[in-house]
Amino acid sequence: MKVAIYPGSFDPMTLGHLNIIRRVSKIFDKVVVCIMVNGEKDRAMFTPEQRVDMARRVTSHLPNVEIDYYNGLLAEYAKRYEDPIIVKGLRAATDFENEFTMASINKKLNPDLETMFLTASDKYTFISSSSVKDIARHGGELKDFLPRELIDEVKELAAKEK
Ligand code: PNS
Repeated sequence: MKVAIYPGSFDPMTLGHLNIIRRVSKIFDKVVVCIMVNGEKDRAMFTPEQRVDMARRVTSHLPNVEIDYYNGLLAEYAKRYEDPIIVKGLRAATDFENEFTMASINKKLNPDLETMFLTASDKYTFISSSSVKDIARHGGELKDFLPRELIDEVKELAAKEK
């Protein structure tokens, strides 16, 4: 069984993430979406439990997609699966620089680990979780950014943080 691991902060999961998950789920037998901690980002807006719950709800229609949470190194987490492939989405050249570095670090830590990239669909290249949080904090329209099921909850939680 060929497994893809799609790691990220998913704070929160956006329409762009969901588009990548859908496409990866057609290529691999199983997709494990691994919600992780990005040491380079400030504190997350949503708790790990909230992020897992949101991700599970919006992917529940995809039978070969699983959601997990891991607070540790991706290179270590990947050892749970047999020859998994790390999959990441690329929106622009700036993503590539970061992602290329991360893929090289992961390969250094776990030489068996391969990373593959999917380019974002042009409908979603402008979306990021950071912009979603900013829009939510200021009460903006989120329908072009977030799965419908998450909009009210994200707005509510963002308003509490403001
Ligand atoms: O959605 P993000 O924030 O761009 O995802 C980045 C993430 C969480 C995948 C990355 O920070 C990560 O792999 N974190 C786990 C810790 C780790 O393995 N760090 C070393 C590789 S940079």
